Amino acid sequence: MSDQVFTNMKAVVSGATGTIGRAICQRIVEDGGSVVLLGRNEEMLKKAVVEMGSQASYAIVDIDDDDSVEAFARTLDRVDILVCTAGWTVIGPVDDVPVADAVDMFNARFFGQCRLIKSALPKFDNGGLIVMCSGVATDAYYPNYGFGTAVCSAIDAYAHHIAVELAPRKIRVNSISPGWTVPVEPNSNSAGPTRVFAPEKAMPAFNTALDSPLHETIPPEEFADALVFMTRAKHLTGEIVRLDAGRGLTDVPFDGFVEINR
Ligand SMILES: NC(=O)c1ccc[n+]([C@@H]2O[C@H](COP(=O)([O-])OP(=O)(O)OC[C@H]3O[C@@H](n4cnc5c(N)ncnc54)[C@H](OP(=O)(O)O)[C@@H]3O)[C@@H](O)[C@H]2O)c1
Repeated sequence: MSDQVFTNMKAVVSGATGTIGRAICQRIVEDGGSVVLLGRNEEMLKKAVVEMGSQASYAIVDIDDDDSVEAFARTLDRVDILVCTAGWTVIGPVDDVPVADAVDMFNARFFGQCRLIKSALPKFDNGGLIVMCSGVATDAYYPNYGFGTAVCSAIDAYAHHIAVELAPRKIRVNSISPGWTVPVEPNSNSAGPTRVFAPEKAMPAFNTALDSPLHETIPPEEFADALVFMTRAKHLTGEIVRLDAGRGLTDVPFDGFVEINR
């Protein structure tokens, strides 16, 4: 149907086997678009593509690796929407987290997005939409999450900057900042590792901080709703869309009770 939001659009989504990326890919094909799912786990990619139908395809891409990303970008004929959700995180007290692990995390979660954007840019023809993925730790204090906070801030800052730089080419850039979001099926994702250091010190306070004013996790489908909004709102650029159940509004400690939405 021609009034579907993604009709005639070609999308690329990294982290496509993950909680947020997968829900976004599903919506793109349901609403008339085609999508290339990126990830490293071929079995999961194949399964997802079979479930999504003929408008979905996949490519194995390691976003840590320039060559892998560039080789994929060369296979593209055109891209209208690029959504970067691949990434993982490091949790632990400042005394305990090795900087080398934070460097690894930045390489995937920040520079991985930058790599993909840079490589795909020549394939944007006459405008388009880029969506980066950060996290609510930019707005709210999460104990033992210094590097996670830093990477989220870097992502949002980069999105802001390149939104201006790419505006003359009619390429819009926005960032999605998730609050706590859990997979539709427990353990259904092939997530990169969350590296936790000194968990006995780090995790109790970190877990309590996951709570939010709405006391609910974010259903992954709401990130697909955000993409639909960003696609329809043709003058939305340089924005951070906070989907966080209000967590970013306050640092008041909650009781840690959160209703899991799947
Ligand atoms: N879920 C939340 O509550 C939440 C909150 C705030 C921020 N975030 C951030 O938002 C992003 C998406 O979250 P999510 O919950 O959808 O994550 P997820 O379920 O853990 O999925 C992450 C995806 O990233 C892919 N990935 C990781 N490293 C990769 C690499 N080097 N090359 C290619 N793919 C790689 C993984 O695929 P393979 O392992 O199959 O390659 C996986 O499918 C992540 O950066 C996450 O840290 C999430």
